[in-house]
Amino acid sequence: MSYETLIVETHGRVGLITLNRPQALNALCDQLTSELDQALAAFDADPAIGCMVITGSAKAFAAGADIKEMQHRQFPQTYLDEFLNWGAIARKRKPVVAAVAGYALGGGCEIAMMCDIIIAADTAKFGQPEIKLGVIPGAGGTQRLTRLVGRAKAMDLCLTGRMMDAAEAERAGLVSRVVPAAELLTVALDVAATIAAMPLPAVLAAKECVKRADEVALEEGLLFERRAFHSMFATFDQKEGMAAFADKRAPKFENR
Ligand code: CAA
Repeated sequence: MSYETLIVETHGRVGLITLNRPQALNALCDQLTSELDQALAAFDADPAIGCMVITGSAKAFAAGADIKEMQHRQFPQTYLDEFLNWGAIARKRKPVVAAVAGYALGGGCEIAMMCDIIIAADTAKFGQPEIKLGVIPGAGGTQRLTRLVGRAKAMDLCLTGRMMDAAEAERAGLVSRVVPAAELLTVALDVAATIAAMPLPAVLAAKECVKRADEVALEEGLLFERRAFHSMFATFDQKEGMAAFADKRAPKFENR
């Protein structure tokens, strides 16, 4: 599969997707979001891949939805197309790591928030500047951001359109780690390789359970987690992981 707006590579069991529209700071045109969904879906379905990384350039992870492409849109088609419904990107089963340097604005911040882990370069800047364009976030900026950083900061960012630097984003709980820009990709690929080396049934179950916490009350979430935990005892990798611990040897997981 070849892509015009992405560079897609594999590093061992890690699938790396680089957003590649440098002339537009990786603005998320329809072609890019559709190719991103296809590339993630291909890695998600590939048994040789255990984790994905999405990154951009040093200057921009992505500067938002493509303003020039959408500026003449009218309501009927926007509604009929279900414009900006990027839900499929957020629904991949294998973990996705966002490696963010430079601008992650509007849809760029929203794509990063659809990922499971955000690793930020110290140059990263996050924001939901849509209000300055006469609109509001349309791909999760008012919803995921509020869940991730709380109402106070989400309201501040969505209403003022200001940017938050990497240090503030880490304090707010939006990003898992901040690293020097020169180390961003190495660290992100390392994190992804660590995840990809874990037994896949447990990886998928852990991701599913953590995401469930966004949706349900505590007792329901605890029950969901416990049932998923119980189901791990049907896997080869549980037998192997625990036997290896007892035998004081390294486990050989088979992702089954
Ligand atoms: N859409 C389309 N093109 C964009 C773009 C975007 N979101 N962001 C940047 N570009 C283009 C610029 O038009 C420019 O193209 P030309 O060279 O052809 O003029 C090129 O990328 C470089 O950008 P700048 O010259 O503006 O670079 P800068 O360093 O001066 O500024 C910036 C960088 C602050 C990120 C600025 O580009 C900017 O403010 N971009 C728009 C950010 C924004 O508003 N994002 C939200 C979009 S709406 C949205 O995302 C809705 C949603 O919920 C999904």
